[in-house]
Amino acid sequence: MSNLKEDILETTTKTLDLKKVRAEFPVLHQEVNGKPLVYLDNAATTQKPNSVINAVSEYYKGYNANIHRGIHTLAEKATAAFEETRKTVKAFLNAAEAEEIIFTKGTTEGINLVASSWGRKFVEAGDEIIISSMEHHSNIVPWQMLCEEKGATLKIIPINEAGEIIFEEYEKLLSEKTKIVSIVYVSNSLGTINPVKEIIERAHKVGAKVLLDGAQASSHLEIDVQSLDCDFFAFSGHKIYGPTGVGALYGKRELLEAMPPYQGGGEMIKEVTFEKTTYNEIPYKFEAGTPNIADVIGLKTAIEFINEIGKENISAHENELMTYAYELLKDIPGFRPIGTAKNKISVLSFVIEGLHHFDIGMMLDAQGIAVRTGHHCTQPLMGIFGIEGTIRASFSIYNTKEEVERLSDGLHRIVKMMK
Ligand code: ALA
Repeated sequence: MSNLKEDILETTTKTLDLKKVRAEFPVLHQEVNGKPLVYLDNAATTQKPNSVINAVSEYYKGYNANIHRGIHTLAEKATAAFEETRKTVKAFLNAAEAEEIIFTKGTTEGINLVASSWGRKFVEAGDEIIISSMEHHSNIVPWQMLCEEKGATLKIIPINEAGEIIFEEYEKLLSEKTKIVSIVYVSNSLGTINPVKEIIERAHKVGAKVLLDGAQASSHLEIDVQSLDCDFFAFSGHKIYGPTGVGALYGKRELLEAMPPYQGGGEMIKEVTFEKTTYNEIPYKFEAGTPNIADVIGLKTAIEFINEIGKENISAHENELMTYAYELLKDIPGFRPIGTAKNKISVLSFVIEGLHHFDIGMMLDAQGIAVRTGHHCTQPLMGIFGIEGTIRASFSIYNTKEEVERLSDGLHRIVKMMK
């Protein structure tokens, strides 16, 4: 792994050596239904390189111990490795301090943490919360629950036919009643990149906070929470080549300090008596119980993998594949892309008029091609497009042009057979 970047990127041409990239991902080298696997469901979860798999396994084999609790050697080694990841995530997001990074189960938990903790304390009856039409259920339901509890109102930013938010409409929704704007950076269903810097600037003018759902953005776009000036940023490890069940929430120090704990238990306390408990400092105040130590350690290696290749190279490669896929698919009878924003990445969502997306997904699977089909946990968005779901091919650093051609050949065959 140490010289991965040099190995993979030929220094003169900067072209990726895909063979070397693919060699890092053991799961890719198998047959599914008698055909070599083509994995194009990367927006659901990315595959994991050897370095991540090894880091998790080395922890269990070599220094499995609980953290922050023991003074024995293994406990200290595990604690140090866990806290190293916090520093790595701090740098990954360009946060000002490592204490502003809270480990979570993933983006969903990050959003729930903010809605439950910050929301319960600062949102009151009559207040408004703004989200967009393209949110994942995980950035809708926690706010609906909060609104119901508090008597607040959820406002929705409309989108145009391309799947871009209508900025003027967003501006109209903002007022002194707006307490928080919680918005996805990159849409999982459409690939749209939202103009988050402008969204944040406008929200701050009315005194609202902003949470960014960074689940789909984190492996493709450089994230700088200080320059964006977002108040909260949540992402998941498993979408960035890391383990499942781990992620992080960034929050500005003064906000995290003002928030009550999310869960009670060990580690989040300073002192407990039966009469009263005082709470730990951030970030530990929000990390009750034994955390997902192994996967937090694996997350560091995932971020190192991304850093070694470079997000610029990753997104350039993915965009090339997405454009190529669109060129090959666009003439299929009934092909209709869903999400044609000018500023988008690595996701090609589409329907084939007259055919059900599940049928197509199953027939592609029979050819060893994995895509996601369905509403992608964005049912309201599907409703806006007047559909139940899409077929979604999402691309990653290890995908190849040949795989895109396999997708295209497969789809052409299916459509010819069924129409
Ligand atoms: N949110 C994930 C997806 O888009 C699971 O598929």
